Amino acid sequence: MSRRTLKLGAILLGVGGPGQHGTWLSPEIPGNASVDIAWYIARAQAAEAARFDLIFIVDSQFITPDSPNHYLSRLEPLTLLSAVAVHTSHIGLVGTITTSYNSPFNVARRLYSLDHISGGRAGWNVVTSGDAGTAGNYSLDEHYDYPTRYGRALEHVRVAQGLWDSYEEDAFPRDKERGVFLDPGKQHALGHRGQYFAVVGPLNLERSPQGQPVIFQAGDSEEGRELGAAIAEGIFTHAHTLEQAQAFRAEMRERAAAKDRDPDHVLIMPGIFPVIAETDEAARAKEAAILGTKSFDRALRELGRPFGWHDFSQYDLDAPFPEVGGAGDRSFRTQAEAIKKLARVNNYTLRQVVEHQLRATWSGGFVGSPATVADEIERWFSAGAFDGINISVTVPSEFALFTGEVLPILRERGVVRREYDSTTLRGNLGLPIPPNRYSAARAATPALV
Ligand SMILES: Cc1cc2nc3c(=O)[nH]c(=O)nc-3n(C[C@H](O)[C@H](O)[C@H](O)COP(=O)(O)O)c2cc1C
Repeated sequence: MSRRTLKLGAILLGVGGPGQHGTWLSPEIPGNASVDIAWYIARAQAAEAARFDLIFIVDSQFITPDSPNHYLSRLEPLTLLSAVAVHTSHIGLVGTITTSYNSPFNVARRLYSLDHISGGRAGWNVVTSGDAGTAGNYSLDEHYDYPTRYGRALEHVRVAQGLWDSYEEDAFPRDKERGVFLDPGKQHALGHRGQYFAVVGPLNLERSPQGQPVIFQAGDSEEGRELGAAIAEGIFTHAHTLEQAQAFRAEMRERAAAKDRDPDHVLIMPGIFPVIAETDEAARAKEAAILGTKSFDRALRELGRPFGWHDFSQYDLDAPFPEVGGAGDRSFRTQAEAIKKLARVNNYTLRQVVEHQLRATWSGGFVGSPATVADEIERWFSAGAFDGINISVTVPSEFALFTGEVLPILRERGVVRREYDSTTLRGNLGLPIPPNRYSAARAATPALV
C-alpha cells in the first residue's frame, strides 16, 4: 500500500471571505479580484505549479450589504471552473452547489460537463445553504427545515449519481463504416420517483473520465454528518483544536464504516489559514496585524449571519448575550448553537462574544516560521486530525510563502507527494472510479453480456 500523503486544496477567496475585512486593501489584490477570471486562473495556476490537488470554490446566493466582501460580487462556481479548466491540466476543480435550490438533472449535467471539459477533474461540494434568506430568491417564503434540507440533499445526490450512469462506457461505437452511432442497450433511463424528486432520465451526456465527479460535503449538524458519512469522499470542515479535529475525523470514519463504506475513501479536509513569517515572533506580529484590520462593527453585523442575519446592533453591548429564541433554526443552526453555548459557558456579554469572533481566525494555530508551520501540519496529520487541508488563498505573496517555504519541508519529509499521480482528481486523491451500475450488473451476470 502506498504511503498516506497530505492532500492540498486552495480556497480562492478573491477580496476576502468571512472575517477577512481588510484583505482587499492589500496592494496585491485588485479590487475586482472576485469577478476577474484572469485572477482565478492565475491563482489556480500557482496552486497547480505547487502540485495542489484541488481548488475549492465556496458559494452562497443570498447577500446583504454586510456580507463578506468576496460574497458581495463573485462569479458562479461552475462557470468560473469551466474557464479555469482550459487553462490548467492537473488540478482538481471543486465547486459548491446547493441541493436546496437546484434540480438534480441540471446539477448532474453541469458537473458532468465540467468533468468532460477538464478531462476528469470535477468535484462537487454538496451544501444545503446556510443563508435562510436564499429562499426568497427561489420563490419560497422560508428556508427548508433541517429534515427536509438534508432529506433533499441525500436524494439529490443519489439522483445525480444515477444520472451519471445513464451511459455505459462503450455506449457510443460511433462506427461510421457500419453506421452505428449508439448502442441503445447501453443507454439507461433512471425512472426515479422519490420523496422530493421525480426524474425520468437518461442524462444527455456520455460517461465522463471520472465516471462520477468527486463528492465533497460541508455541514456539521447530526443530519449533516450523517449525509457526509453516506455520500462524501471529501469533507470540508473547520478544525479548531487538534483534539476536536481528531475526534471529528474518527467519528466520520466510524459513521462511514457503519454505512459499509471504506473510511479511507472519506478524506477530512478542514479549511486553515496559515500565517507565515521568517520567525515565530514575526509571524505572531503578522497575525496581530491581520487581526488589527478587522472591524468591530463589521464583526457585530457578521455575527447575525448564522442567526439568519439577526440584527445584533439593537442590543446593549455590555449586557449578557441576548436571548434570540429560534433565530438560526433554519439558517446555520449548528454555528448559532455553538455561539450561544460559548456565551452561556463563559457568561459573555455581546461585546465579549464579538471580541471572541474577532480573534477567531481560520489559522487553526498554524502561525510561525516555515519550519514551525510545517511541524504543526505534520503533527496534526500524523495524529489523524485530517487527511488534507484547504488553504485560504487571498494575498498571492502569502500563498507563495506557503508553497515556497513550507511545502518543500513537508515534501522533504515525505508528508506531501512531489508530483501529481494522475490527471484526474480521483487519481490524485487516491479515490477509486465507481463502476457504472449497469456494466457492473452485466459483468456479474455473464449471461446478459
Ligand atoms: C465548513 C463549512 C463550509 C460551508 N460552506 C458552504 C458554502 O460554501 N455555501 C453554502 O451555501 N453553505 C455552506 N455551508 C453550509 C452548510 O451547507 C449548511 O447549510 C450549514 O452549515 C448549516 O447546516 P449544519 O447545521 O449541518 O452545519 C458550509 C458549512 C460548513 C460547516
